[in-house]
Amino acid sequence: MTRLAVYPGSFDPVTRGHLDLIERTCRLFDRVIVAVSNNTAKKHLFSVNDRIRLVEDSVKGNKQVEVDTFSGLLVDYLRKRKAHVIIRGLRVVSDLDYEFQMASMNRSLFPEVETVFLMPDERFTYLSSSMVREVARMGGALDGFVTPSVRQALTRKYRLRG
Ligand code: PNS
Repeated sequence: MTRLAVYPGSFDPVTRGHLDLIERTCRLFDRVIVAVSNNTAKKHLFSVNDRIRLVEDSVKGNKQVEVDTFSGLLVDYLRKRKAHVIIRGLRVVSDLDYEFQMASMNRSLFPEVETVFLMPDERFTYLSSSMVREVARMGGALDGFVTPSVRQALTRKYRLRG
């Protein structure tokens, strides 16, 4: 039996914290689907295609990982992919409130689902996509926090926005 996990998120953009979590998931599961959310109601910096491309770029060569997109309820996507495990990262205690609500809601919508929380390496404890976007917008150095292709994409985006 293949152990399958789904790692959902906005990935706007993918950070080294996300990549650290993908690696950890690969050690625990046979296959990981990184599910990039395509929620049109939410405003993103990058289009869903760009977000997918940047994740794909970062996991290239890892045969355990598939990158996909989903819209609508996460649990419906899990049912479609015959998956029962959701991976979420927990960095700091303040993450817990939202994550607990989300995991509880997902469990009541799909009782067979389990949410597994993983801690990223401590270098990434305070790293988030929103922090990365802010630092990039203000021209700060992002080495160590994102891959070179994400850094380039951010530079282009903010240069274009002017
Ligand atoms: O990276 P994020 O923004 O914290 O990811 C949040 C995400 C996309 C995993 C979450 O918003 C989600 O699952 N959205 C799909 C809609 C859904 O299923 N909502 C009910 C559970 S709260």
